[in-house]
Amino acid sequence: MSARHFLSLMDCTPDELVSLIRRGMELKDLRNRGVLFEPLKNRVLGMIFEKASTRTRLSFEAGMIQLGGQAIFLSPRDTQLGRGEPIGDAAIVMSRMLDAVMIRTFAHSTLTEFAANSRVPVINGLSDDLHPCQLLADMQTFQELRGSIKGKTVVWVGDGNNMCNSYIEAAIQFDFQLRVACPEGYEPSAELLALAGERVQIVRDPREAVVGAHLVSTDVWASMGQEEEAAERMRQFKPYQVTRALLDAAAEDVLFLHCLPAHRGEEISEDLLDDPRAAAWDQAENRLHAQKALLEFLVEPAYHHA
Ligand code: CP
Ligand code: NVA
Repeated sequence: MSARHFLSLMDCTPDELVSLIRRGMELKDLRNRGVLFEPLKNRVLGMIFEKASTRTRLSFEAGMIQLGGQAIFLSPRDTQLGRGEPIGDAAIVMSRMLDAVMIRTFAHSTLTEFAANSRVPVINGLSDDLHPCQLLADMQTFQELRGSIKGKTVVWVGDGNNMCNSYIEAAIQFDFQLRVACPEGYEPSAELLALAGERVQIVRDPREAVVGAHLVSTDVWASMGQEEEAAERMRQFKPYQVTRALLDAAAEDVLFLHCLPAHRGEEISEDLLDDPRAAAWDQAENRLHAQKALLEFLVEPAYHHA
């Protein structure tokens, strides 16, 4: 199948990613100025959610509407996917009716299998392995508030989860140094660590890791699907809470990002999102703008009039 997919940040070149971030900023400006921009009129995005979502669903749905198109929410509960229709069959059928498909799933292989059978672009709206759309928003937020991230030092604190893996891919693609402060046994993908080489370091002590950091980010200690491990994880991750005091040990102009939803009192202190160094609300808003840039990039423009 010839469609261009976005399952990982590695599906784009570094230049394409930089252009997407720039375009996200332009589309944000157009929206703020009330300019109507509808290149995706008549285009339809299907959205399959196997897991809960607030930001991803809203930003894709609102984004498609703002670009002149529509989005359809598909819950596996209400489609034949929930009754065992093979994912490849669903991909063949859905991609004959839709212009792009966004999938939030557990196994990353669901995305690759769908994409292998899809005529239209498939977008990863989060899998157990990766969350590339969130990284577009994170990179746009850093660019807006602090300028280019190239050559900067970024620190990931906490679980080596899907977000952390996407930060490793971002380190490779956007050319920054990444330190991962995680407890033993909770490391990110060994394959990605090997790919990143010296660009990514594991530093066990978060206090040591954040020294000189320009960006610090973290995420929940138990991701969706890990509910049964939650109690054990709370114990293991306790020393990894991000607090104002931890940020004080970073660079003077450090920025703090959190993809949300946040658990105050767990991975972040109660007051952290109110700290002037935190930009989680801008970051959440940027999901909309960054993904509009992605949709514009991936989805064929509108039909010609007959
Ligand atoms: N950050 C993020 O993906 O949020 P949702 O789970 O609400 O989509
Ligand atoms: N790591 C989290 C991110 C949620 C946006 C999860 O997978 O649940």
